[in-house]
Amino acid sequence: MSNILEINKIYKQDCLSFLDRLYKEKISPNLIFTDPPYNLSGSDLNLKNNTTGGAFYKVNEAWDTMSEDEYFNFTYQWIKKSFDIQKDGASIYICCSLHNIGEVTMAVKQVGYSIKNIITWAKINPMPSITKRTYTHSSEFIVYAVKGKKWTFNYETLKLINPDKAINGKDRQMRDVWSLPQCQGKERIKDPQTNRAVHSTQKLEELVKRAILGSSNENDLVLDMFMGSGTTAVASKRNKRNFIGCELEDRYITVANNRLAVN
Ligand SMILES: C[S@@+](CC[C@H](N)C(=O)[O-])C[C@H]1O[C@@H](n2cnc3c(N)ncnc32)[C@H](O)[C@@H]1O
Repeated sequence: MSNILEINKIYKQDCLSFLDRLYKEKISPNLIFTDPPYNLSGSDLNLKNNTTGGAFYKVNEAWDTMSEDEYFNFTYQWIKKSFDIQKDGASIYICCSLHNIGEVTMAVKQVGYSIKNIITWAKINPMPSITKRTYTHSSEFIVYAVKGKKWTFNYETLKLINPDKAINGKDRQMRDVWSLPQCQGKERIKDPQTNRAVHSTQKLEELVKRAILGSSNENDLVLDMFMGSGTTAVASKRNKRNFIGCELEDRYITVANNRLAVN
């Protein structure tokens, strides 16, 4: 294995040691967009007769099951290491849900980032409440924070790409509530043999695109240390940004590389 990290590549590595490598090699991402484990797996809720392949696939993964203490320590460590590699003016976006928003926001504040928005992803096609004992879970969140005082924020670009126009057709400011579907249909990568989603938590590319266009410029470097099926890498490439990242599982890296090859 080469000792020098290459840009525009996904490494098979644990996020903590990967962040140490970035620090050592002074590789400093302008933007981090990441979707960490939410620590929501391991419950005994099972969807009987669940044969759907897409977003209605219960998340139940070994990488997503930790004790409360382990999870906070892990979250704190990768967020602290992220802060240490980023320079003033850089941004970080972290996906979360009710399961981990507390840990994420606490760690983000403790290490020294300044939270600018909690973006709500209002899902227009949520999974119904199976237990019928809670409101339908139809939102996730993205904690958007910056390091230092002079962060990149491409206000005009965000106005242009905002689909929510004024009644007279004029562009409007991008709000911090994004009404978007879950990743389904053509965008969802499926196993041709089983027709099931290859990754249980593949994110919608539009979420990443907004962060990339809003908080980075062409040729900037975008990091995702929980790369999964490669959504951050694909969105970076399509929008003329460089990317780098890591992922624990070979099968997801293969999926990500296949996506990159055709994008
Ligand atoms: C929530 S998923 C990311 C999904 C991704 N956003 C996508 O669109 O496909 C989190 C990913 O992090 C990986 N992962 C979990 N723990 C990790 C660790 N310690 N270091 C690196 N990757 C890890 C998992 O294998 C999983 O693919």
